Amino acid sequence: MPIHFPSPGRREFLKIAGSGVVLNTSKGLASNNFQSPASGKKQRPHSVDDELVVILNDTHIGEKHPPDSPVPSNLRFIVNKLTHQTHRPACVIINGDLALKDGQPGDYQHFSSLIQPLRTAEIETHLTLGNHDNREVFYDVLKDERNAVPTLQSLHVSVVKTRHANFFLLDSLKETMVTQGTVGRQQMNWLARTLDEHSDKAAIIVTHHNPRLGGDPVHFPGGLIDSQELWNMMTQREHVKAYVHGHIHDRGFAKHRGIHIINTLATSYVADPKTSTTGWTSIQLNETGALLTTHTIDQTHPWNGKEKKLRWNRT
Ligand SMILES: [Fe+2]
Repeated sequence: MPIHFPSPGRREFLKIAGSGVVLNTSKGLASNNFQSPASGKKQRPHSVDDELVVILNDTHIGEKHPPDSPVPSNLRFIVNKLTHQTHRPACVIINGDLALKDGQPGDYQHFSSLIQPLRTAEIETHLTLGNHDNREVFYDVLKDERNAVPTLQSLHVSVVKTRHANFFLLDSLKETMVTQGTVGRQQMNWLARTLDEHSDKAAIIVTHHNPRLGGDPVHFPGGLIDSQELWNMMTQREHVKAYVHGHIHDRGFAKHRGIHIINTLATSYVADPKTSTTGWTSIQLNETGALLTTHTIDQTHPWNGKEKKLRWNRT
């Protein structure tokens, strides 16, 4: 099961949303005051935007990164931003390749300490796995968060509900240190069934690996080996609108058979800083689409604040 750190307010929202009743009437904002468990001090009041979701991916945290090196510093910078803004997202999704290379216990211990401020601030956080993760080690380190009754045996999947869309978080980790990923038959069947059970809202699939469907940039060969089967299943369901992935360490937008493909920036590093950069992505949802905003670690980068508007039409 995915790791979840739901806030009390979100727990209420999910419960109410599940019963078909909408919490709050004005822009989906819920205000909240909380006391920091660490300091005991009252924090600034903040609002939770039930139409806003934040995506990070490819954090690649190692046990022994020096604290001032870019990889942990970038994640620390983003977590600090998210916890200090008064306008907070409904949730944060960290989409795979959490660990440096092969998912060592120390990697997850360091990762866990870096995202601890999100828990302290009661910002709901969901994690998926990538090809540089190790599922068993991940669960060993974060054992308190493991669900006693997994949704799918041996796989880390879930559904995250927001006001205008449901996010389906998949586990595409085929084998640690094997670049390609897979959905697999069991997960494909679960996804088809679960999509059918949640057809009332737009469905957004979140998976670490890129699809391989032909054409650059969606054909990186290290992507999902069963992309075509996945697309065949998803395109039969009108409410599937978008697929979000990391893995490539770049930013990009594409569309295949009516479904948007959103490639989000890596948090950790890029191969060539001349052609890409590091950062995170926010998704502001509405009834007919979403506004995506790229946020870069380098606050002067031309992509910082760059927006992309998507409409949920399937043409
Ligand atoms: Fe990856």
